[in-house]
Amino acid sequence: MIKIAIITASDRGAKGEREDVSGKVIEEMVNAIGGQVVDYSIVPDDLEALKESMLKMCEKGADIIFTTGGTGFSPRDNTPEATLAVIEREVPGIPEAMRQRSLEKTPHAMLSRARAGIRGKTLIINLPGSPRAVRENLEIILPALTHAVEVLKGQVQDCGK
Ligand code: MTE
Repeated sequence: MIKIAIITASDRGAKGEREDVSGKVIEEMVNAIGGQVVDYSIVPDDLEALKESMLKMCEKGADIIFTTGGTGFSPRDNTPEATLAVIEREVPGIPEAMRQRSLEKTPHAMLSRARAGIRGKTLIINLPGSPRAVRENLEIILPALTHAVEVLKGQVQDCGK
C-alpha cells in the first residue's frame, strides 16, 4: 500500500467557496495503483501555510504528497516555492516529463512551475490545479510511482533486475 497525502492549494477552497474536484481526481487515480489517501488538506495559497502542511504530512509518514494548484504565474501561486523550501533532494525528471508530454495537449503546459522532490522518505509532487490538468499529468507519472516509492523505502536493491 502506498500512503498518499493530498494538499489542495486554493484560497477559495480553504474558505469553503469552491468544491475540491481536483483532490477527488487524485484520490480516484491513485486508488488504481494501490494508493490509499491517508491525509488530506485544503490550504490557502500561502507560503508558510503550505510549508507547514507539507512538513506535517512528511512527519506523519506519507509516501507521496501530491499538491494541486498554485503552480502558475499569479501573485498568490506559492506552491513551487513552498516545495523547494521543504525538500532535501529535487527530482527534476517528474515535472520535466509532465511538461514535455502535456505540451502535446496544450501550450499552456509550459506555464506550470511545478516541482518535485524528496524529504526523508516522502516524495512531494506538484500538480497544476484544474481537474483536467491533474488527470493529464497524473496519467503521465503514475506508471513510475510504485517503483519510486519502493526505492525510497529501501525495498529495491538492484533497479536493473
Ligand atoms: N497541463 C496539462 N496537462 N493540462 C492543462 O490543462 N493547464 C495549464 C498548466 N498545465 C494544464 C497543464 C495551465 S492553464 C496553467 S496556468 C498551469 O498549468 C498552472 O496551473 P495552476 O496555477 O492551476 O497550478
